[in-house]
Formats: sequence, structure tokens, C-alpha cells
Amino acid sequence: MKSTDFLHWQKQAQAQTELILGRLLPDLMHQTAHLQEAMRYVALNGGKRLRPMLVLATAELGQADQELLHHAVAAIECMHVYSLVHDDMPEMDNDSLRHGRPTCHVQYDGATALLVGDALQTLAFELLSQPAQLPALRQLRLISTLARAAGNQGMAGGQAIDLAQVGQELTQTELERMHQLKTGALIRAAVTLGALVCADIDETAISILDQYASRLGLAFQVIDDVLDCEQKSSVLGKTAGKDQKADKPTYVKLMGLAAARQYAETLIHEALAFLDHFDDRADHLRALAQFTIRRNH
Ligand code: IPE
Ligand code: IPE
Ligand code: MG
Ligand code: MG
Ligand code: MG
Repeated sequence: MKSTDFLHWQKQAQAQTELILGRLLPDLMHQTAHLQEAMRYVALNGGKRLRPMLVLATAELGQADQELLHHAVAAIECMHVYSLVHDDMPEMDNDSLRHGRPTCHVQYDGATALLVGDALQTLAFELLSQPAQLPALRQLRLISTLARAAGNQGMAGGQAIDLAQVGQELTQTELERMHQLKTGALIRAAVTLGALVCADIDETAISILDQYASRLGLAFQVIDDVLDCEQKSSVLGKTAGKDQKADKPTYVKLMGLAAARQYAETLIHEALAFLDHFDDRADHLRALAQFTIRRNH
């Protein structure tokens, strides 16, 4: 597809995500207004919205239950934003800049950052469990997909490895496992959620899409590591150069910048091959794969 068409779609998808989040995040109520304000601070006017775009693009392959689709968009982004809020805390990466603004614990305080994470995570499950037109078993699968992707066998488990391995030399297999968990799992969940909200997307398609998402998720974190070295904080909207300073295990540390980029290219090539199973309704998924390695932040 033409790059101008994709840019137009991307802008629309990002604006739609902003509207959906604005509507589904809690409004300021007197007693907990402070927490609600902080939730809105971290989740609105945010990042690239890659995971919501993956949900929306995947759902273009079928007939989506629109309300549940919107809830899935909000749920995956709430989970992602919660992971960033905790990732930035002094106990983890100790970062003071996110989305070009002070991080949650800096703008508010540590206790608020913990609670924002707690509240965003539970909101994600609340949204996925609200009544919908889908068969109940399929809706339960949405919930368990996100739960697995966020927990011990997913993002939280990967973050634990990331912190435990500071200063260590990992093998490529170990590093891949860590990246698949800490970042890949939520990206895979985004694609699966987008498929599950469409009752007419079958198991074969779900499994092929998952293979696409697994390559994409890994490539995404490889490029995150590359950009941490190559870009300025003003472009990233978060502190650059932190991985090396903190002696984090990254692909750049393992293989160097050029080889890491080349590896991401190979992964995206593999991801795209899985999409050969689909017609041009998968074009936004194809463009999102290119975006993952061409982005500058
Ligand atoms: C950053 O994710 C953290 C990782 C999991 C690599 P994104 O780069 O998707 O974050 P934003 O939301 O777009 O800033
Ligand atoms: C973060 O990885 C992954 C999660 C938030 C789960 P990083 O620590 O590399 O992300 P950035 O670079 O701070 O965005
Ligand atoms: Mg981290
Ligand atoms: Mg970090
Ligand atoms: Mg990073």
C-alpha cells in the first residue's frame, strides 16, 4: 500500500485510540480524583499506540464486535501503559522522562505510580469482561490471553529477567526469551485480541497471525534497543543511552548496532511471509511490520 495511505490510517487509528481511552478511563470523582488524574496523565496524549493499531488492523480481517473491539483497544493500551509506569520507577529502570513528560512517579509520587499501575491493569480486565455479543467462551479467551501475556509467563516474567540479568552476558537464546516475554508477549496478545473479537476468524488464521506477531514483537524490542543507542532523548521522548549506562542485556550489546538492525530486518521479513496467507485486508498489518523497523522513536 502507498505510504501516504498508511500514514493517514495510522493517524486515524491513533486518534480513535485517544477517543476510546478518553471515554473509558475513569472521570475525575472527588474521592479518588488524584488517582484518576494520574491515570489519565499517563494514558492520554501518549505514545505511538502500536498495540491498539495491531488490534484494529487484525480486526480488519473479520467482522468485529465493535464495542468489544474498542474495549480490547483500551485494554491492551492500559496494560502497556501500566508496564511503562512501573518500568520507569526507581526500583526498575529509574527513568524520569516518558512520552516527553516527567514519568508518573516524578510528576506525582511512587505510591501513586504503583496505584496507577494496579488500577490500569484491573481496568483492562474489567473492559474485556463487559457483556458482548460474542460467545462467552471466546470472550473468556480474550481475558485469559491478556492475563497470560501480562503475567509471570509474559511481560512481568520478562521484566524480572531483564532486572536479574543486569551486568551479565546472555546467550542469543536467553536474550530472545527475555525479549519475547517482556515485550513480545503483549504485542502477540494485541494481535490475538484483534482476531478473537471477530467470531469469523478461525483457529488456523489465529495461529498464523500469532507467528507473524511473535516475529514482530521480537523485532520491536530489538529496534527499541537500537534506538536507545542511536537516538536523542528529544526524539525518543524518553531518556536515551540508558541501557548501556545500566549495563542492560540488549541485542546491541550482544551483536552490535548494525547486526542488531539486520536481525530485526530478517525477523520482519519472516513476519511478512506469514501474512501471505491473507489478502489485501492484511495490508495494515503489513505496513505495521515495516513501521516497526523504520520508526525513529
Ligand atoms: C516501549 O514501548 C517499551 C517497550 C516495550 C519496548 P513503545 O515504544 O511501544 O512505547 P510508546 O507507548 O509508543 O511510547
Ligand atoms: C520495557 O523495556 C519493557 C516493558 C515496559 C515491559 P525497556 O525498559 O527497554 O523500555 P523503555 O526503553 O524504557 O521504553
Ligand atoms: Mg526496562
Ligand atoms: Mg525502561
Ligand atoms: Mg528500551
